[in-house]
Amino acid sequence: MAATEVSTTPFDGQKPGTSGLRKKVRVFQQPHYLENFVQAIFDTQPGFRGGTLVLGGDGRFYNREAIQTILRMAAANGVVKVLVGRGGILSTPAASCVIRKYQAQGGIILSASHNPGGPDQDFGIKLNTDAGGPAPAGVTDAVFARSRRIDRYRITDTGSVDLDALGNTALDDMSVEVMDPVADYAALMERLFDFNAIHQLFNSGGFRMRFDAMHAVTGPYATEILENRLGAEPGTVMNGMPLPDFGGGHPDPNLLHARDLVALTQGLTGLDFGAASDGDGDRNMILGKDFFVTPSDSLAVLAANAHLAPGYKAGIAGVARSMPTSQAADRVADELGVECYETPTGWKFFGNLLDARKITLCGEESFGTGSDHVREKDGLWAVLFWLNLLAVRRQSVGDIVREHWQRFGRNYYTRHDYEAVDAGAAEALMDHLRMLLGDLPDKRLGGLSVAYADDFSYTDPVDGSVAEGQGIRIGFDGGSRIVFRLSGTGTRGATLRVYIECYEPDPARHGQPVQEALAPLILSARELAQIEARTGRAEPDVIT
Ligand code: G1P
Ligand code: ZN
Repeated sequence: MAATEVSTTPFDGQKPGTSGLRKKVRVFQQPHYLENFVQAIFDTQPGFRGGTLVLGGDGRFYNREAIQTILRMAAANGVVKVLVGRGGILSTPAASCVIRKYQAQGGIILSASHNPGGPDQDFGIKLNTDAGGPAPAGVTDAVFARSRRIDRYRITDTGSVDLDALGNTALDDMSVEVMDPVADYAALMERLFDFNAIHQLFNSGGFRMRFDAMHAVTGPYATEILENRLGAEPGTVMNGMPLPDFGGGHPDPNLLHARDLVALTQGLTGLDFGAASDGDGDRNMILGKDFFVTPSDSLAVLAANAHLAPGYKAGIAGVARSMPTSQAADRVADELGVECYETPTGWKFFGNLLDARKITLCGEESFGTGSDHVREKDGLWAVLFWLNLLAVRRQSVGDIVREHWQRFGRNYYTRHDYEAVDAGAAEALMDHLRMLLGDLPDKRLGGLSVAYADDFSYTDPVDGSVAEGQGIRIGFDGGSRIVFRLSGTGTRGATLRVYIECYEPDPARHGQPVQEALAPLILSARELAQIEARTGRAEPDVIT
C-alpha cells in the first residue's frame, strides 16, 4: 500500500505552549489540523525516520482517532517501529519511562493534562525527545515554524490498527507493537521503592487509604501497583476507569477538584492517607488524616527522607525547585550539603540538571514532583514515595510533616490566582511592578525589610542558555517572599499568580492557619501591585 501525499495549508495559532499544543477538540477535528502539526514534527525531527516512536495518551475524547492518524503518518514518514500503549493509554511519566527503556527517538503524548475532556473540551499533543522529557523551546519553536509553512503531509491509506490486542502488526513497512502500558512503569517503581514494607503496611490492619484516579490515566497504573502488587484492598483506587470525559470532572488533583477524596480524609473516620493524580498522571496531591501536604513541603520532606527509599538510599546529588515554589527544600539541601537550584516555572528546566546528574529530586508548587527516574513529573511515583516513608517511619502524614517543620522550620506558603483578567491590565500590572524594582531594596513592606527585588532570570548551569522575565521576586530579611507572574498555560485572558511565603523557625508558632500567618504579606502584595485598581478584583478566584 502506498503512502499518499496530501496537499494542505497551514493554520494560524498553532503555537505550542510549554506543555505542547492544547486546543479544543473541535479545533483538532478540523480537516488537516492534527496532520499539519504531526507532519511538522516529522519534518523537523529527522531522527524518527528509521527510528522508534512511543505513542499514547491519557484516554480523553479523540485519543483513539488521533492515534490511528499518527500511526498512518508515522508509517508514511519512514518510522520503523511504534510502541503504543494498549487502548491508546500511556501516562506521561510512563511514556517517558518507555522512551528511555527502549531507547526510542522520542514520543508523542496525547493529553491536555488536567484540563477537562469531551467533545466540547480540550485535547492536546506534546512531543518528547529521546531523553524522555518534554521537547525544549528550540525544538517546539522549530515545529511551530514548520507548521506555519507546511503545504503537504504524508499518510498511508492503510486501515486502522486494533489498539486493544497486545502484539505486533505491520502497517506498510512499519511495525506497530501494542504494549502493556503499565508493565515497564510498574517494574521501575518496584526497583525504586520498598514494596515489601508497603505491602506489610497494607496488611498490618488499621491503615486506610484511597487513591483517586479521577477517571483519568492513572487508574490502570494504580490498580495494578497498589491493589494487585502491593495488596491494598480492592476499592482502594477510586474512579479507576479512564473515561473519555473523565466522568464529567476536572481531572486536577487539588483541594477543589478532588473534594470527595478530601472529605474522606476528614473527621473522626478520616482515612490515614489520600492521594490523587491528574489527567495524564504527572501531578500528585498528598493528604493525611485532616492534613494537606503542600507540594512545596512534599518536595522538602521527600528530600530529607530520600535515603529511606531503596532507589535513593545512597542519598541525593542535589535538588531543584521552580522559582515560585517555597524555599522549604532549600533548607533541606543546606543541611544535606547539596545544591538547591532555582529554575523558571515548567518541568523542562529540570531536564539538563537531571541529565548532568546535578540533581536527583525536583518539584514545583503546582502539584508536580519527580526525580531522575524519568524526565517528567510523576504523580504515582510521589504517592509510592510517601507510602514508602509511611511504611518505614510508621508515623502519620501529619506527624512526619510537623516533625519536619520542627527540624527545619516551617515555610508558610500560599498561591493566589486571579483568573481571566484582562490581558492588557495584567501586562500593565507587571510593568508597574518592574518599574518599582529598583526602589524596593531596604524599603519596609508589611513590617518586613526588602532584601532583594528582581525580575527572575535563569542561566542554565549546563548549557548556559538564559531565560529572562520569569517573574517578579521580592525577598525579605528572614526568608519571606512575594512572587508575581503571569500564567503561561491559561486559555482565557491572563491569569495573575501571586505566591506568598514566610519562614517561621519557632515550633510554637507552627499551628497557625496559613492565610492568617501570611495576612500582612498578602495585603502588602495586593497594595504594591495595585491588584484591585488594575484588575477590578478585590479577591483572588482560587487560593491554594
Ligand atoms: C502551570 C504551573 C507550572 C507547570 C505548568 C504545566 O503553569 O504553574 O508549575 O509547570 O502549569 O503543568 P502556569 O500556568 O503557571 O504557567
Ligand atoms: Zn498533567
